[in-house]
Amino acid sequence: MPRHWRAPLSLLFSLFVLPICTSAANSFENTAIVRTVELGGALVHVTTTYAVKALEDGSSVYTLALGEQEHARTSWLEAKLKGQPGLLPLGDFGYHPESGVFLYTVDLPKALDTNGTANLVVETVLTHATYPWPREAAQKDPQSLKYSTDLFVISPYKTAVQRTKIRSPTPTVHSYTDPEDIEFTTDSVVTKSGATITYGPFYDIPPSATQDFVDAKQKQITIHYDYEFPIVEITKLERTAEISHWGANLNIENKIDLHNAGPRLKGHFSRLEHQTQSYFGRTSAHILPGMNLMLPPGIHSAYYVDQIGNVSTSHLRTVPSVPKGSNANSYSLLELRPRYPVLGGWNYSFTLGWDSPLEDYAGYDSATGKYVVGIPLLTPMPTAVVDEAEIKIILPEGATDIDYFPPYPALSESITKHITYLDTIGRPQITLKYRDLTDKHTGNIYVTYKVPFRAHLQKPLAVATAFIGVFIVALAWKRVDIRIRRK
Ligand SMILES: *[C@@H]1O[C@H](CO)[C@@H](O)[C@H](O)[C@H]1NC(C)=O
Ligand SMILES: *[C@@H]1O[C@H](CO)[C@@H](O)[C@H](O)[C@H]1NC(C)=O
Ligand SMILES: *[C@@H]1O[C@H](CO)[C@@H](O)[C@H](O)[C@H]1NC(C)=O
Repeated sequence: MPRHWRAPLSLLFSLFVLPICTSAANSFENTAIVRTVELGGALVHVTTTYAVKALEDGSSVYTLALGEQEHARTSWLEAKLKGQPGLLPLGDFGYHPESGVFLYTVDLPKALDTNGTANLVVETVLTHATYPWPREAAQKDPQSLKYSTDLFVISPYKTAVQRTKIRSPTPTVHSYTDPEDIEFTTDSVVTKSGATITYGPFYDIPPSATQDFVDAKQKQITIHYDYEFPIVEITKLERTAEISHWGANLNIENKIDLHNAGPRLKGHFSRLEHQTQSYFGRTSAHILPGMNLMLPPGIHSAYYVDQIGNVSTSHLRTVPSVPKGSNANSYSLLELRPRYPVLGGWNYSFTLGWDSPLEDYAGYDSATGKYVVGIPLLTPMPTAVVDEAEIKIILPEGATDIDYFPPYPALSESITKHITYLDTIGRPQITLKYRDLTDKHTGNIYVTYKVPFRAHLQKPLAVATAFIGVFIVALAWKRVDIRIRRK
């Protein structure tokens, strides 16, 4: 799938800082870089640890480089200091044409003096980084995937030693590249131990975030491995949240186009063979019989409809509402069973919706006279990627003074009027669009608005201080990151 414009830059989780000039970055050297790749299906998680040493006093801005392919696949990027939970502010400098790389800066919490050291941990989530190999599989065949990446972690600084560890989810690794004519090492380039393949150590690498280095020294490596779970790709998600004061209700509806991105089925699907496989608990990984979804607590009137009609084979266990702002990790569990097993290459479209008490999501701020509603951006689908998401929030009729604060800047956003036959003046609708969302993209879209007197809730909502507090934090973030936008 061609991707001319990718989401990642807009989806950075940390605070953005205003770019002043690339030369504001200080000078460092990497005493060690260790990259660990956790192979998966739709998502690949990469953790890169940079042990850095400052080469001048007052060094506080470290620059990261991503190659073009790596950048195109990165849907999430966050940086921390090792052992500390707080995310470090990132600056996005975009593409650097002379060097052919994408540059980001990381602000260290405290400037380092000469020879001062820090351990930076950079986590990324890659999407669309694997593909089934072979491209086709018979119903009873196992599923295996290929993943390719650059051999060297590139950096604008010189690196004393670096290595890359690639962990397969199973020890069944069919093949891996053993590159030849590699500099910077005297030993073997690659070693395999169980499910882990290690490239390096490589010593004394010069600054590598340059076109010259990439052209002359960079190599591609490919791993071919077994993956035992279906690869779920949501090619399109249309999520509509409708706030009703009249019914004190929040309706969430998800229209989902699901695609099994595993190998295409070779030959015909045999239901008998499928039943036999299921009976012995040996369903092939490229067959998706169903999945478990974590829906919010306190929901009711859930519905699950596909093109044919109601799907009654699923099972929902609801749990009661939890107080707003509490961290209780409770959820209603939906064991979703499509009407037919979804095989590799197949699509399945369905609609999943439910109602919730509005008070589970809303607060009233008497200081401003505004309602604050926190709408979850996504219903989490672990290990799945959402290629395209359109999220709509429909506010009560006559709502005014509307503001909204998404957890990540959207690719596009708008406010329009949504007219239904019951309305006289229409209901304001917020629409946000995203690409390549992962299970990291959690969080709420906070919406604040006023409503005319007659539209106030019959049952006043308690002001949940914790809830408003969370919202204020979200607001502060928005204030900061709104300053940087892609041209
Ligand atoms: C930094 O370390 C190098 C080598 O260990 C040493 O020669 C140099 O004097 C140190 N500089 C400072 C300012 O401590
Ligand atoms: C689907 O089920 C709901 C209740 O579960 C029912 O109200 C609705 O009429 C059903 N729709 C169809 C098309 O069967
Ligand atoms: C599945 O959907 C994608 C678009 O989302 C389409 O390109 C593909 O042809 C569909 N596959 C099948 C088997 O219908």
